[in-house]
Amino acid sequence: MLPTSLGEIAVSLPGRSYSILIGAGLLEQLGKQVKKVASPYCRKIVIVSNKKVFELYKLKVLQSLTNEFDKVYSFLIGDGERYKTLKTVEKLFSFLIENKIERHDTIIALGGGVVGDLAGFAAATYLRGIIYIQAPTSLLAQIDSAIGGKTGVNHPKGKNLIGAFHQPKLVVIDPETLITLPKREIKSAMQEVIKYGVIADKELFYLVKQERLKVLAGDADLLAKIIFRCCSIKAGVVSRDEHEKGERRILNFGHTVGHALEAVTNYRRFKHGEAVGYGMIAAANIAEQINILTSKETEEIKNVVESYGVLPKIKDMNVDLILQAMQQDKKSLAGQLIFVLPEQIGRVIIGEAVPVPLICEVLQKLLSR
Ligand SMILES: NC(=O)c1ccc[n+]([C@@H]2O[C@H](COP(=O)([O-])OP(=O)(O)OC[C@H]3O[C@@H](n4cnc5c(N)ncnc54)[C@H](O)[C@@H]3O)[C@@H](O)[C@H]2O)c1
Repeated sequence: MLPTSLGEIAVSLPGRSYSILIGAGLLEQLGKQVKKVASPYCRKIVIVSNKKVFELYKLKVLQSLTNEFDKVYSFLIGDGERYKTLKTVEKLFSFLIENKIERHDTIIALGGGVVGDLAGFAAATYLRGIIYIQAPTSLLAQIDSAIGGKTGVNHPKGKNLIGAFHQPKLVVIDPETLITLPKREIKSAMQEVIKYGVIADKELFYLVKQERLKVLAGDADLLAKIIFRCCSIKAGVVSRDEHEKGERRILNFGHTVGHALEAVTNYRRFKHGEAVGYGMIAAANIAEQINILTSKETEEIKNVVESYGVLPKIKDMNVDLILQAMQQDKKSLAGQLIFVLPEQIGRVIIGEAVPVPLICEVLQKLLSR
């Protein structure tokens, strides 16, 4: 059964364990929660956010943080993936230096995955690393990107090519922020929820299948339970394999093709989860072709992916360009294309090198839909 009461999940890592707190209204307690984990010498807090999110939540967070800390600053970045760059990080560094932010002070990332990845990277590198806290406000950030310590920015030649592992000191998730999140963002993030179901949690997969209407209507209890479940899975995986040497690679299910689709379209056509949706269908097809997944389960994965909204069109895309992008991806290994493939809903195998002709065949089929 899914838990009915939400609360705390631990990410257990030697010397840098931390909690993920989940609960409606938690943003109002942000100051108190941060106080518990910040350095006793922390005097200054820097909130990194974007204008849109900060306008929505500044009253709550500023009030709660100024109750606990001497000085609270805000640094706002542009909205969107194109601002996740070293240039923005440099501006943030200048801001931190000008305001004399010291080693014991704290950065808070308030926003979606773009803000979280960028603020985390700045925290990993400023003064060789300072404490940061994740306060994710998008569904994708709440179930995925805020947890696990992968931080980074994009380079003109590729996504997330510059980065560092730097774990947050705390993750504070207030599912009430989802009320203001655009519907397309919810649908896209649900593809990552489906991913968790396929890689590790059959019950979650069927819950998401059966309760689609409630999810899309924004049922708060259900969304909170889904967040709890996804965070539990990710926390477990990260605790066992922080640096993606083995098990953590299961989280890349759907991403081999997904990242390539995003790259070929210059990160403009797809939301991340939408590209992963296609990637999951492709991986399931490959698994069926090599006889490790039944056609019934392949169909099931495809149907649930498609039930969460119409994915952007891909008919006009070129198989060779997608293949090239896959070969440039971080996940290719000695020139081989590596996939995470489902054996059944709830279980995957990692590190499968798939022959190029089979990938081409599956991509052709995907593009002809
Ligand atoms: N570090 C990791 O492990 C990891 C994992 C997955 C994805 N990512 C990264 O995460 C990023 C995608 O994250 P995302 O999907 O959150 O995108 P995003 O940060 O661009 O947020 C999506 C949109 O929602 C808006 N938004 C956020 N919260 C809102 C709220 N409560 N109300 C209204 N609007 C709100 C944002 O301003 C933005 O316009 C990508 O850069 C991806 O590479 C990182």
